Amino acid sequence: MSVNSPIGWSEDFALNLPEIDAQHQVLFDLFGQLWNAIVARAERAEMLRLIGDLEDYAAQHFKEEERFMEATGFPKLASHKMAHETFVRRVTAERSAIDKGSPSLSLDLLRFLQNWLVEHIMVSDREYARHYESAKQSPSGLGNFFNRLLP
Ligand SMILES: [Fe+2]
Repeated sequence: MSVNSPIGWSEDFALNLPEIDAQHQVLFDLFGQLWNAIVARAERAEMLRLIGDLEDYAAQHFKEEERFMEATGFPKLASHKMAHETFVRRVTAERSAIDKGSPSLSLDLLRFLQNWLVEHIMVSDREYARHYESAKQSPSGLGNFFNRLLP
């Protein structure tokens, strides 16, 4: 991993769920801003603001994803939620360390965040997107069941 270039959103990450894809783009964007600030050794106030933005946005985005998974009956909701919590906990811990006077955020944090985002979107988020796709196309969906009963 080069410290010069944070990974950005690309079509490779697309789930074909426009709202969620747009939110993932924002997440990568906020991550990129934090990356640049860490590499440039930005001031503490700036770091705090950026990591706080990432923390807030991620928490809000995860809630939306969880609502989507719930609405579409995704069977692995519980473990997916736990993965979200792991991410938020790490970001919160780093923010409060900075808040308490830790001199700077670590490159280790960047590695964690980037690996987590890439892996999570490519593997775990893709699972609920696929589940949604196949539920939509399933011939045994409730919609068809009711259609058969109606004249
Ligand atoms: Fe997710």
